[in-house]
Amino acid sequence: MLWGGAFSEPSDADLRALQDSISFDKRFYKQDIIGSIAYARAIAAAGILTDDEAATIVDGLRLVLKEFEGGTFELKDGDEDIHTAVERRLTELVGSVGGKLHTGRSRNDQVATDFRLWVLEAMAQVDALLADTQTAIIEKASEHVETLMPGYTHMQPAQPITAGHWLMSFFWMLSRDRDRLSDIAKRAAVSPLGSGALAGTPFDVDRSLLAQELGFHAFTQNSLDGVSDRDFVAEFLFALALVGTHLSRLAEDVIIYSNPLFGYITLNDRYSTGSSIMPQKRNADPMELARGKAGRLIGNLTGLLATLKGLPSSYDKDLQEDKEAVFDSVDNVVLLLPVVTAIIKTLHLNPDKLKAALGEDMLATDLADYLVRKGLPFRQAHHISGQAVRMAADQGTALSGLSLESYQELSDLFTADVMNVFDFGASVAKRKAAGGTAPEAVRQQIETAKNWLAQHQGVHSIQLK
Ligand code: ARG
Repeated sequence: MLWGGAFSEPSDADLRALQDSISFDKRFYKQDIIGSIAYARAIAAAGILTDDEAATIVDGLRLVLKEFEGGTFELKDGDEDIHTAVERRLTELVGSVGGKLHTGRSRNDQVATDFRLWVLEAMAQVDALLADTQTAIIEKASEHVETLMPGYTHMQPAQPITAGHWLMSFFWMLSRDRDRLSDIAKRAAVSPLGSGALAGTPFDVDRSLLAQELGFHAFTQNSLDGVSDRDFVAEFLFALALVGTHLSRLAEDVIIYSNPLFGYITLNDRYSTGSSIMPQKRNADPMELARGKAGRLIGNLTGLLATLKGLPSSYDKDLQEDKEAVFDSVDNVVLLLPVVTAIIKTLHLNPDKLKAALGEDMLATDLADYLVRKGLPFRQAHHISGQAVRMAADQGTALSGLSLESYQELSDLFTADVMNVFDFGASVAKRKAAGGTAPEAVRQQIETAKNWLAQHQGVHSIQLK
């Protein structure tokens, strides 16, 4: 036990069950040990440890690390958290000199350091998985630069688009997610070590060197803030919640488009599931899980914010609640992303179904644009096109089924070339300004996306040695 000198009775078992965090913070073992190795060197430089003592402690810590990595580390009763467990084992291995390691340090600056290191590694992992998803999107979109499909607003048929354009929309969402991770990593890569419990360290520890040793790019400027700042946790949970939200929106499209009523998409057998009772079923379960998991990712974020909002200055035990939310969010995103990537890769788009779903009403805007090109203000053109839609409905025909005379009843600007409007491919091809759905613009968009991928820097990475 790391404390208890002033206590005359041991902790109650129920209290221990409530307060021990070892069951989950043992995931920090590597960060905790590497942090301690750097700290041992820093306090040796400050004259707290002799070089021999420092070497003994560092060797001992390396042994403890080996035990964890080899799966031979044995937890003991009294190992309250990972920090306690490591120090207990170190002292068993090297004797009482192990007890010098914690000089000037508190579990408050220690846990904040461990967690930042862990989060940075997790950010890099999520970032790499997002890059795979982006690559899959580019590949699939490249196959469908010319594939026509209905575009929707309000889930109502709106205008024809290309399937490549639809797919690429998700590329840009994920690019913002990755930018966000890089940005958050900058603030996470700041070392709180040397903040002590709350007031700083009385020893001559070189915090800058210590930060550098651990791969941080800076150290915290205020010890109270240093031990209690969990912005990096909230930001990471937000980033993950937004990743989940983006995947959930993709999932919703895929679920709808793979419904037989639409039939736009067929999911690969390996990535869809059947029903135990209804043999005909082909369910998009993994996509429904993507949609469902977005809920828990958002819950983890709001839970943490609620935990943080009322805390008084510096460390409070409430902060121990920060970890499981992050572990849960990271684990779920790491579970989900490879499946989403595989689904995108193996997705079969059915061009015939997509084309059959295009209705000429979706060219009503193009009809208005036709009149605009002949000099009519758009507002009037919109009205006349609407009248044509209504007239066609009344006559039980499509827009191209109305006679030229009928069009000319609505406006004398209509001439025989109005029939050229009713061509889905031509409609899409016109939208070739940058960012539009024309095959030409989508090819350009894909080039830009490839450059983005090639140039993206990724997150501030920390290699723990
Ligand atoms: N397990 C604790 C946590 O996760 C470590 C810090 C404990 N600090 C303390 N003053 N009791 O926050």
